Amino acid sequence: MKENANTRLIFNDKSKYLFIGVGVLIAGGLFISTLLLNINTPFLCTLAGTKFDSTSTQLETILHYATSRVTPQQSQAEIRLSFDVLRARAPCNFLVFGLGHDSQMWHAFNPGGTTLFLEEDPKWVDTVLHDAPFLRAKYVKYRTQLQEADQLLQSYRSEPDCNPTKQIPLKQNEKCKLALNMLPDEVYDKEWDLIMIDAPRGYFAEAPGRMAAIYSAAVMARNRKGSGVTHVYLHDVDRRVEKVYAEEFLCRKNLVKGEGRLWHFEIPSVVNSTVKSDLFC
Ligand SMILES: C[S@@+](CC[C@H](N)C(=O)[O-])C[C@H]1O[C@@H](n2cnc3c(N)ncnc32)[C@H](O)[C@@H]1O
Repeated sequence: MKENANTRLIFNDKSKYLFIGVGVLIAGGLFISTLLLNINTPFLCTLAGTKFDSTSTQLETILHYATSRVTPQQSQAEIRLSFDVLRARAPCNFLVFGLGHDSQMWHAFNPGGTTLFLEEDPKWVDTVLHDAPFLRAKYVKYRTQLQEADQLLQSYRSEPDCNPTKQIPLKQNEKCKLALNMLPDEVYDKEWDLIMIDAPRGYFAEAPGRMAAIYSAAVMARNRKGSGVTHVYLHDVDRRVEKVYAEEFLCRKNLVKGEGRLWHFEIPSVVNSTVKSDLFC
């Protein structure tokens, strides 16, 4: 009797382990087949969420432009200059000066990447985000005015903290007025693969003008530690200030393409360069 009881016990234990073993095998098989079946589609909730989000915002964008009478200001030929680079580089880090009717488009061109918009007008930030809450936009209070453009261009050479050889990080640069030192930390913490300068406004005397955006984009690009160049796009180069500042800080030698009122620069890093110059170009 006692032996029978022991045998039953052992048998019960054995069947318990067998049961667990078979369970583990089935679960493992299911896991692996799910993996193989979903090799092109994410199987984890978080990844699935990411994929769904990027597809869904692109669908939202198609719906938006298909039903909007307002189109972006840049022409198709101008847009193509950054579109082609984004096709090759996305997902990447894309910094855009200004929110506009083009914002949803820029965001959609960089699926899975980081597209961050910097905007001078807080009310306009609210308006744009109300319609497209998936955009990432930050308000920026500029410390320049367009009417100071000529004086800033003359005086920056005598301000040591504007000098590129000193390599002062933008965030800590209080003295050089062309340095954007008030941006959200994320801007300084990331390396931007593409920078689009189509803002702030620069068509009336009290507007911030694009002087600081151009200077700061040049500094960010020159200080890049990662591989490759930084692509910088500047719109409205038919205007004197944009043209003069581009030639001073982004440099003719880095100008790779132009279309309409848009210039495309490829700016190499100078981090490992042994040649030190007081000039940007
Ligand atoms: C110079 S515009 C460039 C617009 C952009 N390229 C586009 O296609 O819409 C950029 C700036 O103008 C201002 N802006 C543009 N559209 C606006 C609107 N509908 N209402 C108020 N401000 C606007 C914002 O301050 C923005 O940063």
